[in-house]
Amino acid sequence: MSKVTVVGAGNVGATVANVLAHKDIVREVVLLDIKGDLARGKSLDTWQQAPIDHFSTRLTGTDDYKDSANSDIVVITAGIPRKPGMSRDDLISTNAKIVTSVTKSIMEHSDNPIIILVSNPLDVMTYAAHKASGLSKERVFGMAGILDTARYRAFLATALDVSPKDIQAVLMGGHGDTMVPLPRYTTVAGIPVTELIAEDALTAIVERTKKGGGELVKLMGTSAWYAPGAAAAQMVASIVRDENRIFPCCSLLTGQYGLNDIFLGVPVKLGKAGIVQTLELKLNKDEQALLHTSASHVREVIGTFEGMSIA
Ligand code: NAI
Ligand code: 2OP
Repeated sequence: MSKVTVVGAGNVGATVANVLAHKDIVREVVLLDIKGDLARGKSLDTWQQAPIDHFSTRLTGTDDYKDSANSDIVVITAGIPRKPGMSRDDLISTNAKIVTSVTKSIMEHSDNPIIILVSNPLDVMTYAAHKASGLSKERVFGMAGILDTARYRAFLATALDVSPKDIQAVLMGGHGDTMVPLPRYTTVAGIPVTELIAEDALTAIVERTKKGGGELVKLMGTSAWYAPGAAAAQMVASIVRDENRIFPCCSLLTGQYGLNDIFLGVPVKLGKAGIVQTLELKLNKDEQALLHTSASHVREVIGTFEGMSIA
């Protein structure tokens, strides 16, 4: 794999390009934005880091989709972020049109790319891009679970005063307040987290995780970008290196967990063909109920999107 296009050169997109360049695993990263000079400037700035940080990945900034031709992977971050007081779902009327038109433009220049969605509301934007692209379900998916899990792991690392490196966790559901962190599947260096932390402290961390995005919006007046950018770049890396790493990603369910025809966060294996396997955990009744509540919420927003009749 040699070429990755990142659409949207704002906070998240520029971070994806920058983190990816530092990984030095692809020949070229194209950063594309309707604000062409912003994309050109941020690409040039990252390229000027190369002699300092020692990477060879070439950076191109552009507003012309021709420069995205023959991309192996496309990361879509184009769209507006939320402001304090807004939910991710409030972004739909603007971002649905942007994501649909961006996806169509990408498909005019690349035959069979893998597309990773970042724009919000994430689950519905992934649905929209899948629909607009005509690509198989293995090749269109969204980034949210890695970020939400990272927030959960970071909060746990602080509470337990351990390295975040040793915390393994999985989280499912939509990218919103109905997401489903799974303490039963959380370990610290192989030790179940429930043996290390009091139940009420763990519950507080789960609740903080669900509102983790909002906490940052309140602090910064816009949404986060360092961890989101790193999370999307980690997905790209697993694909480029054909690593088959397991991450919670927003993907099309076709009967798994009793859910059909919906994009939702579940653990998947990511390799060079995109999603190579969807894992089905044996959820207990409570976990299954929370997942279905989250799915209902995402379905409502998909309904809003369908009602918009974007061609
Ligand atoms: P930003 O405002 O910094 O950047 C967005 C960029 O998109 C701007 O540079 C803008 O010019 C560009 N853009 C708008 N329309 C475009 C079009 N038609 N074609 C090409 N570029 C276009 O926003 P930021 O912070 O980078 O966030 C981007 C999106 O990612 C937002 O929707 C945000 O909610 C979402 N997000 C999702 C996360 C996740 O976990 N899935 C985490 C963080 C942000
Ligand atoms: C986040 O979780 C807003 O989705 C974005 O930071």
